[in-house]
Amino acid sequence: MNGKGPSVDSATGTEAPRGEVPRVSEPGGSDGYDFVVVANRLPVDFSVRSDGGVDWQRSPGGLVTALEPVMQHNEGAWVGWSGAPDLAHEPFDADGMRLVPVTLSAEEIQRYYEGFANDTLWPLYHDVVATPSYHRAWWDAYRAVNQRFADAAAAQAAQGAVVWVHDYQLQLVPKMLRDLRPDLRIGFFDHIPFPPIELFQQLPWRRQIVEGLLGADLLGFQRGGDASNFIRAVRRLTDYTTRGPIVTLTDADGRPGRHVRAAAFPISIDSHRFDALARTPEVQQRAKEIRSELGDPDVVMLGVDRLDYTKGIRHRIKAYGELLQDGRLDVERSTLVQVASPSRENVGAYQELREQVEGLVGRINGEFGEYGHAAISYMHHSYPPEEMAALYLAADVMLVTSLRDGMNLVAKEYVAARSDERGVLVLSEFTGAADELAPGPVLINPHDIDGMKDAIVAAAQMDPREQRRRMRRLRRRVMSDDVAKWAESFLGVLTALPHRSSHV
Ligand code: G6P
Repeated sequence: MNGKGPSVDSATGTEAPRGEVPRVSEPGGSDGYDFVVVANRLPVDFSVRSDGGVDWQRSPGGLVTALEPVMQHNEGAWVGWSGAPDLAHEPFDADGMRLVPVTLSAEEIQRYYEGFANDTLWPLYHDVVATPSYHRAWWDAYRAVNQRFADAAAAQAAQGAVVWVHDYQLQLVPKMLRDLRPDLRIGFFDHIPFPPIELFQQLPWRRQIVEGLLGADLLGFQRGGDASNFIRAVRRLTDYTTRGPIVTLTDADGRPGRHVRAAAFPISIDSHRFDALARTPEVQQRAKEIRSELGDPDVVMLGVDRLDYTKGIRHRIKAYGELLQDGRLDVERSTLVQVASPSRENVGAYQELREQVEGLVGRINGEFGEYGHAAISYMHHSYPPEEMAALYLAADVMLVTSLRDGMNLVAKEYVAARSDERGVLVLSEFTGAADELAPGPVLINPHDIDGMKDAIVAAAQMDPREQRRRMRRLRRRVMSDDVAKWAESFLGVLTALPHRSSHV
């Protein structure tokens, strides 16, 4: 997995832009960039050489795939963090984009990134499946770092430019940026769920977050339910009026002011690139090799996730272990491959999860494994897109069992890889993907272990005609709604909104 790809949680990075490239603003004119993306991570990885110099390498995530053509067609800049502490680097050009690194100190990484973003907001926004920690020092760092991103974006943007801010790490940036630059058109996309008010109101700084987001003209969410959760939070926590998806702010003298629209724009992958990759003879050959390396079982099951407690990895492995225990599956005929890519390894909840998952895998393998037939092949690392495509092709059953997930792009990658119309997607109801893809997948509630066990067995035994019927439906959806269309549709709505450059 290219874990470093900014803001899109897919197994693989993708390239090759497709489709029409939206022009978001008029070319030329003033100094600065017409289109500015602001995301926690830059779409590159940095490494420090032994002589102290810095190298960078492209880290192609789904988001950059979607936005690169827009960046190249307009004067585009991308503001983000390098991923390393204290790395100060001048802005530089790469593949027709201006990359603008934001420096974070080791303490800011700990408080803003590992702390507030990933130990407060991440668990809170994912249905508190882990307990969020609330620390005032983390909040102070979150505010300070958001201000730094806003300042950097304000310095890059041309007069009247379009700025697109991404994800939960940067929710204060829209308002901070509008205060600095009321001339800009500002969009924000939330890649993760937006929680129901009953959970969101736990956050001591809930009102500031809502105000921060309302600095945007357009707020994009993965599902309609996320957008309505946000609108309910606005109604509960502010005096602004809302009408359907529109919030009307009040201006300085209390009169109705700027409008903000909140709506669903479900994100996708570069489906055609993935489809083409999985059709190459090399990938097809590799898929066969993988099956034979696994001991040629009848049924290969696959899980692919960042090692994150939202993904339901323990629930999935528990269900699988019980199926072996009950004798409904046996290790000579079936196997589970679990790719769990390293993630946020300095955060305690992730360290605990790793211990639990690895303990469970060890116990199940110890109890049920045979020479040449592991019960579970567990990999704690990432793979390049070619290997991922081969794994998807080798897998009869894809298990996506998230307890809560904004979208889940792995589910879409599996579908895009299966031009053979074989394979079964078992998909948690608690993913954005389930809202979009039903009724093609076998839907499960990962908390219901017995229900999940029945679904896994049904998927493993599904007749090829039924597999084909379901996979066709899934592919119609995934192949037509790709990430380029997602970006076009968000930017299309943002740039069509009437523009009022007033302060609130
Ligand atoms: C999720 C988030 C992204 C984040 C990614 C990887 O997809 O929505 O914003 O970049 O996970 O996590 P990391 O903490 O490594 O950036």
